[in-house]
Amino acid sequence: MQPNHQPAAVEAILSNGWIQQVRWFAEIDSTNAEARRSGLGTPLPALYVADRQTAGRGRLQRSWWSPEGCLMLTLAIGEESLPRDAAQWGELALVSGLAVANTLSRFVANGDVQLKWPNDVYLGQRKIAGILIEATPKIWLVGIGLNVAMRWDLAPEEVSSRATCIQRASGSAPERSVVLVELLEELQLALAAWRTGDGTWRQAWRDRCFLTGRIARIRLTERELVTGKCEGIDDQGRLIVRDEQGVHFLTAGEVIEWQ
Ligand code: BTN
Repeated sequence: MQPNHQPAAVEAILSNGWIQQVRWFAEIDSTNAEARRSGLGTPLPALYVADRQTAGRGRLQRSWWSPEGCLMLTLAIGEESLPRDAAQWGELALVSGLAVANTLSRFVANGDVQLKWPNDVYLGQRKIAGILIEATPKIWLVGIGLNVAMRWDLAPEEVSSRATCIQRASGSAPERSVVLVELLEELQLALAAWRTGDGTWRQAWRDRCFLTGRIARIRLTERELVTGKCEGIDDQGRLIVRDEQGVHFLTAGEVIEWQ
């Protein structure tokens, strides 16, 4: 049986003073769903962590493979943690992604960790973490799934062939609770800087941009696609894509192919 590092991690997280409440589940449907159910009345920022999820949710109504070995959490924050200018709120996924990438770079080769616009963290050509942002009245949910040490023989084929984890990439498996504590430190710093208008995160994000210089096909809506050369993100966090028609600034979309 694995030693249980959870109580020490919870104590470390609460003693830092930023997170006001931690709820850690051996199993739950989805930490994002639980954070939604808890809603207002929970002291914020609140943290929801699960060892396993039975209905883990990904972006675009997809499911998220959620076995033990994946660090799965939702950070619930209030509007007071966001920049005053609501026009910037759409950057939350990018800022959170950068915090995840910076955390990962302590466990795997730093230069290999990249950010695939808008919400994915990649290691080489494989996804290692994903972020699901959900907004509810007055509360923002930052759901993060970060693959630490998975049983790949149990993974669905489409996950196994496209994803990786810290252990697969580096050969060693840190405790998820250790990764969690470091991730929260990164998130706290990143969100505080972002809220006060510090825009230095953008250059750090650009330095890790997976798509810059690549030709990519991006689905904007069910019928609308753009294919062109990616030139990184602009100051509003939009993906810049150049094709024969000119330059497109994409606020949302799904990158479905790249080379
Ligand atoms: C994606 O890449 O599509 C986003 C995946 C987000 C998964 C995390 S796991 C913790 C939290 N709870 C969920 O149900 N989803 C997010």
